[in-house]
Amino acid sequence: MPKTKILKFPAGFLWGASTSAYQVEGGNVNDWSQWEEANADRLVKQAKTYWQPWQKEKFPEMFERDNYFCGQACDSYHRYEEDLALVKNLNCGAYRMGLEWSRLEPRPGRFKMAEIEHYRKVLMAAKARNLKIFLTLWHWTNPAWLVKRGGWVNKDVRKYFSRYTELIVNELGDLVDFWVTLNEPMMIVGHGYLDGKFPPNKKFSPALFKVFNNFVAVHKDCYKIIHQKFPDAKVSLTMTTGAFTPANKYNLLEIIMVKLANYFRNDWFLNRIKGYFDFLGVNWYHYDRLVWYPPFRKNLNEKVTDRGWEIYPKGIYLVLKNYQKYRKPIYVLENGIADADDKLRPDFIKEHLAYVHQAISQGVEVCGYFYWSLLDNFEWAEGWWPKFGLYAVDRKTFKRTARESAKVYAQICKNNQIEVG
Ligand code: FCB
Repeated sequence: MPKTKILKFPAGFLWGASTSAYQVEGGNVNDWSQWEEANADRLVKQAKTYWQPWQKEKFPEMFERDNYFCGQACDSYHRYEEDLALVKNLNCGAYRMGLEWSRLEPRPGRFKMAEIEHYRKVLMAAKARNLKIFLTLWHWTNPAWLVKRGGWVNKDVRKYFSRYTELIVNELGDLVDFWVTLNEPMMIVGHGYLDGKFPPNKKFSPALFKVFNNFVAVHKDCYKIIHQKFPDAKVSLTMTTGAFTPANKYNLLEIIMVKLANYFRNDWFLNRIKGYFDFLGVNWYHYDRLVWYPPFRKNLNEKVTDRGWEIYPKGIYLVLKNYQKYRKPIYVLENGIADADDKLRPDFIKEHLAYVHQAISQGVEVCGYFYWSLLDNFEWAEGWWPKFGLYAVDRKTFKRTARESAKVYAQICKNNQIEVG
């Protein structure tokens, strides 16, 4: 019989599941919904050349226009009680959710108090279930009026975001346990202003430095506003982290490339907001083996997710070890896999957790792990075909169905341990 090993997590370790407002709520009108209208046809066409043959065969819906519209999403706006019950079914102690800025402030300076009331109800329902809340203020989507005024390039975004944050702090702050100001700002710097994959589709735009600086300033503003009212608040952001290794460990050029990639992806932003985070929110998905010649990466891809991302559980360990230097509690606020068949997900979760455990045993203060995502949801420019959920969602009836991996994760959360070997 093969030997199994039990890896116990520290007492009080926080288990959770994550979602974002736009990806699950439904019925939102913002820069993304407008972008979908303008780009759906292009995305259908582009799918022919962009994805691998096996992906095209497995997910023919990528050739349908409808795949690229968020629309009613998972209807979580109306089904939040059901969603919270699912989080409880997973034996989680925490839920990461987001607010939709465009819903709360559809016109500049005009807040919709009915929507504040709505979110109050959601947060109260989470409290009633004894769930700790990680609340994300901004997860990539913007009110259309902001974009008309230049979006994140305009330095006035600071003023606008402060006004929005003040409202949230005053109206909902008493119900928040952990604050996430911005979700992965570097992804928007990269995809919005460098490779043009996300709105506003700018390629190699020098505006990216303005956007980067505005993100830095907005995060710091939020940190101060929240702490002014709640001095003990726990405030951070989520970082889109990457793990890099040189393809040849003796190649000096590749070693330097790894150092640069590490710095720009994992540390650049954090170095600019030192003193302005009480914990660190880590989102981890990506690993890259770097080579010195184009296209500069050469992944082995022996095992990949439906999205084509190489599965490399040790990457989460490398990221956590690197973040030890900031001497702050760390919460993994996103880690997950697109796996429609749910064949890889159970092992994916366990293998990543084994490396989280290893980091903890070496003194890294990791205090929680949140699986992305609670539900299958709208996966941005890819639309609906990548399935990240512990629960499958029927796009017509919105019925949620637990995948096998939901049961596996529920056991892990319940026992505060994993079994490996
Ligand atoms: C992260 C995003 C999240 C989701 C996952 C797959 O970068 O924060 O919204 O799309 O990727």
